[in-house]
Amino acid sequence: MNDYNQEFTKLKSVNSCLNKRDELLNTEAILEIKESLKIADSQTKKDLGQKLNLIKQAIQASCDQRIKEIQLEQEKDSFTNFDPTFYSSKYFSANGGLHPVTEVIREVVSIFQKMGFDVADGPLVESQEYCFSLLNMPDYHPARSMQDTFFLKQKDEIGENYVLRTHTSDVQVRYGRSHKPPFKVVVPGQVYRNENIDATHDIMFHQIECIVVDKRVTMSHLKTLIQKFYSEFFGQGNLKVRLRPSYFPYTVPSMEVDISNPFKGKVEGKLRDQEWIEAGGSGLIHPKVIENMGFDSKEYQGLAFGFGLDRMAQLKLKVSGMSQFFNGGIDFLSGNKF
Ligand code: DAH
Repeated sequence: MNDYNQEFTKLKSVNSCLNKRDELLNTEAILEIKESLKIADSQTKKDLGQKLNLIKQAIQASCDQRIKEIQLEQEKDSFTNFDPTFYSSKYFSANGGLHPVTEVIREVVSIFQKMGFDVADGPLVESQEYCFSLLNMPDYHPARSMQDTFFLKQKDEIGENYVLRTHTSDVQVRYGRSHKPPFKVVVPGQVYRNENIDATHDIMFHQIECIVVDKRVTMSHLKTLIQKFYSEFFGQGNLKVRLRPSYFPYTVPSMEVDISNPFKGKVEGKLRDQEWIEAGGSGLIHPKVIENMGFDSKEYQGLAFGFGLDRMAQLKLKVSGMSQFFNGGIDFLSGNKF
């Protein structure tokens, strides 16, 4: 087999390697072989075809090898060029601070704490059981594919692949199984979905799950709770809540929650004339989920809601685009430019 390494050794960039490869794949000699293939008898066709393939593989192998070397050299360069003592007074003279989303999470949590809620946490790498099955979504349930899930290679003890949790609702049964009712708890945290990234979507975002389990829990508790929370969060006593019928497998009835736009007429842009803002999903916890928590659904009832936090942070802090939150822009992080 011909060795094409010497054709590539002097090349310095990935692109030049690819160009060289294309050039070698289209030399007179190779084109001639291709031409003669068209008219050859079947035995010659086979021999020539094999020969051609060997040449192509050899060219590709030499090309790949050089690209690998170039990439290694570049990595080494970026490491030697990395200066850990670098200090730019432009960016780092200010004191450090909390990330805006962290600030908002803390504020949200403290509002619930004032209303007597506990705060809990849940794992980001979750079993499908807690993320789906125990929430009344069996394998074949269409609601599973409503969420674009990241599946991990690793499997849990029942042989199902772990997932990155797609919602904070995974903690409903987790929390229920380790606590005695009555309880009320909020769980803020990251969730992951396999979305196309754009100005308003990311593969990671934040939700807060609110769970109440008690002997008697009604829709009016749910609505009042949501109203009280958002009024406090946006500092507006007269904020209205609108519940629209919806469907979630783990609540019955299920409601989509909208809040009246606290910025109506006060800001520029689309938000100025908007009447309602979508806040999240909610409902009374499905009796099957109450049973999965380990409680008698004739004795206990529950309410739950799950809200996105990034949009709330964006509205509250008047950040122009949510994509800024996690792209690491230093201006944004140092609070210079929202
Ligand atoms: N888990 C839902 C989502 O990610 C939101 C949600 C809906 C949470 C209804 C709830 C609920 O607690 O009752 O879209």
